[in-house]
Amino acid sequence: MAAVREQFGSRLGFILAAAGSAVGIGNLVGFPVAAAKNGGAAFLVIYAFFVLCICLPVMMAELAMGRCSQKDPLNAYRQLSGRSKLWSIAGWLSLITPYMIAVFYMVITVWLFGYLWQVGIGNLDKLANPDYFAQFINSNSVFAYFLVVALLVNAILLGGVKNGIERAAKILMPTLLVMLMCLVVFVLTLDNAFAGVSFYLIPDFSKINAGVINGALSQAFFSLSLGMGIMMTYGSYMGRNEKVAESARFVAITDTGVAFFAGLLILPAIFSFNPSVNTAELSESSVGLIFTFLPKIFLALQLSIGYFGASLVAGLFFLLVFFAAITSLVSITEVPISSLMETKSYSRKKALLYLTLTMALLSVVCILSFGRIEWLTEFVGYAGKSKSFFDVVVDVFYETILPLNGFLVCIFVAVKWKKQNFDVELECGDPEYKGSLVERYVNFSLSSIIPLVLLLVFINTVALKYFAVNLL
Ligand code: PFF
Repeated sequence: MAAVREQFGSRLGFILAAAGSAVGIGNLVGFPVAAAKNGGAAFLVIYAFFVLCICLPVMMAELAMGRCSQKDPLNAYRQLSGRSKLWSIAGWLSLITPYMIAVFYMVITVWLFGYLWQVGIGNLDKLANPDYFAQFINSNSVFAYFLVVALLVNAILLGGVKNGIERAAKILMPTLLVMLMCLVVFVLTLDNAFAGVSFYLIPDFSKINAGVINGALSQAFFSLSLGMGIMMTYGSYMGRNEKVAESARFVAITDTGVAFFAGLLILPAIFSFNPSVNTAELSESSVGLIFTFLPKIFLALQLSIGYFGASLVAGLFFLLVFFAAITSLVSITEVPISSLMETKSYSRKKALLYLTLTMALLSVVCILSFGRIEWLTEFVGYAGKSKSFFDVVVDVFYETILPLNGFLVCIFVAVKWKKQNFDVELECGDPEYKGSLVERYVNFSLSSIIPLVLLLVFINTVALKYFAVNLL
């Protein structure tokens, strides 16, 4: 007899766990950088529009597929498609994608922990040295940090859905929100902070072009943890009396709210450090901002609040991002765990052991690809650039496949699973959903505009990333 599927203990538990998944490095750092470079509030408006009109229906579709099938993404596709071989491919993609994203996300989380630790032992000055990051990622201490992060993630996941994931989210998420607010309030008291605020909140629509619009959608999609099988898996742990649409709305609001406040933290901090900053010169990547730019800003605070005070602020920031990353990492690792438990009837412990070992191996390969092993460092070349193993994992699984997975979800719901079944699932626990405007919009958009837009984003990303051709 199949074991009874685990469930979240409460609606709040689900919302906090799903928001914990959604709130991550993408919100806290990726969003502020993108907003800074692309017209501040103008980017925010476009981002919010995509969250509402494109991402929210996809999130509802993923949650509904999970809740209806009570399965992980691979088996959800299999079951709801009547074991179609073709749709199993989409299921496999929804399994391999989170597995590989977890690998690279783990590496960044390990760096975050390393920086947190270094700040904690009084080494903020070292981190602010521009050469430090390159040395750090190739130091042996990374393996020790790796061990700690892996143990922490395992400890949470071993507790299961209710006593592990939900319990951790109930502690980490409120703490994260309080830390974020404290940091925002503090940063707003700094000199020149309001130059950053007005730069952020006064929209500059002249920066908006097709590339920026594409970037805003990709950012929103990633930020809400879509296309990664996470929402299907978490949906499968949702009670049948829960309102899917409403819960999805809460998750999206929390995620977008955190991104908004992260902008209110990062931009004033940048402007107070250098009032004449040219934001176009900000690093393209979140990684550059977190690990090289921000430590310099934190250290500069020692002039006003002393070295201890500066370290405290830096520590709070790294703890904030670390908590956000841990809850995301937990959610993404849960996807292959639930698949192994379902498909092979493994216990949670056994599934976790298998996954930890194989993922650790791949994460170590990533760690070795920053210069330690040449062929991993210069793994392949495309679009005129040499790429490391780590770069390839990021490019393929984070940049490219997510919109494709989103496209497949839409087509699956519209063509294979069928609108009527989808509606029944969303109406379950939520009778007011039936016949509502939201229902009509979701049904219409999932079978028309949304897949079209996601397909375009996918095609443009492939052309741009691998052939250096911008179609937009
Ligand atoms: N919403 C997460 C973020 O913004 O960082 C997306 C995510 C990434 C979730 C990686 C889970 C994950 F492992």
